[in-house]
Amino acid sequence: MGRKVILDVDPGIDDAMALCLALGNPDLEVVAITAVGGNVSPTQSTRNVQAIIEQLDPPRWPRLGAASEPDNRLAVDRRSLYGSDGLGETSFAVAERQHLLPSEKVICDQVRDAPHLVTIIALGPLTNIARAFIRDPELPALVGQIVIMGGTVSGPGNITPAAEFNMFCDPVSAQTVFRSPSTKTLVPLDVTNRVELGYDLFNRLPDESNRTGQLLRQLLPQAFRGYRQQFGLEGIHVHDTVTLMSVLRPELFTTKSMAGDVETQGDLTIGATVFDRRRAPAWRHNMEVVTDMRKNAVVEAIIDGLNGRFRHE
Ligand code: RIB
Ligand code: CA
Repeated sequence: MGRKVILDVDPGIDDAMALCLALGNPDLEVVAITAVGGNVSPTQSTRNVQAIIEQLDPPRWPRLGAASEPDNRLAVDRRSLYGSDGLGETSFAVAERQHLLPSEKVICDQVRDAPHLVTIIALGPLTNIARAFIRDPELPALVGQIVIMGGTVSGPGNITPAAEFNMFCDPVSAQTVFRSPSTKTLVPLDVTNRVELGYDLFNRLPDESNRTGQLLRQLLPQAFRGYRQQFGLEGIHVHDTVTLMSVLRPELFTTKSMAGDVETQGDLTIGATVFDRRRAPAWRHNMEVVTDMRKNAVVEAIIDGLNGRFRHE
């Protein structure tokens, strides 16, 4: 069996691409996909997770968790980037599923079922992770590793000058997770912004006979439109897919032990991630931070993964 992972997502088209990559990779056992509000509302995020799973219909369906309203979520979303439904106005029909458990309970249950063996890959705001840690105070020590997409080390934010979107959406939860005694790796915008996929991506995706190819060809046009209209880019960032690749192909990435925290106050700085890089740092190191990657190799690994071509040792 592959590495046990939980994907905590706020789909969003870039989350959807990461899910395509994860569900198709034999190196991973996706034990759960838990929805969180972020790119879209918690309700829409839960619906989008169900829609993506139904479209991909993986051999083994993971447990699904339902997102709920966070206590202190800042009112922001990415519907202008990914469409009003977060998935390019595809409005997929979703079969009415049995009542889904809350995401934080699914996380607690899955980690308790396999102590020290589960990697949580957090690709949205950290609401669910923080709630799971509050629900089960022993959980931080029982999680194998948490890999987090978010924050910045020295670069600018993407939702404010100071803050990256996932941290900005729920800074209190982000601070709870940063300060928890869990094994964390952060993949910040400084690195994920370096991957920009152009229109030639459409020539390199699987064809429509493949469920991944079919889904991405329905979703990606909106992402390209959003990036062109909002940022004037002729390409898209795939922050979540790069983050997942750091789990699948760690040898392509460079990390550094650092001490980081999250600002929860300040009109200008709320959601900013702050790292103690003083000559004589006083903060204790609490995470590994990805500082570099072999970009071209990462891009080729993404394309290979989407096409079902996996590295063979
Ligand atoms: O800042 C990028 C992150 O915010 C990505 O995870 C994107 O999906 C949004 O959640
Ligand atoms: Ca996301």
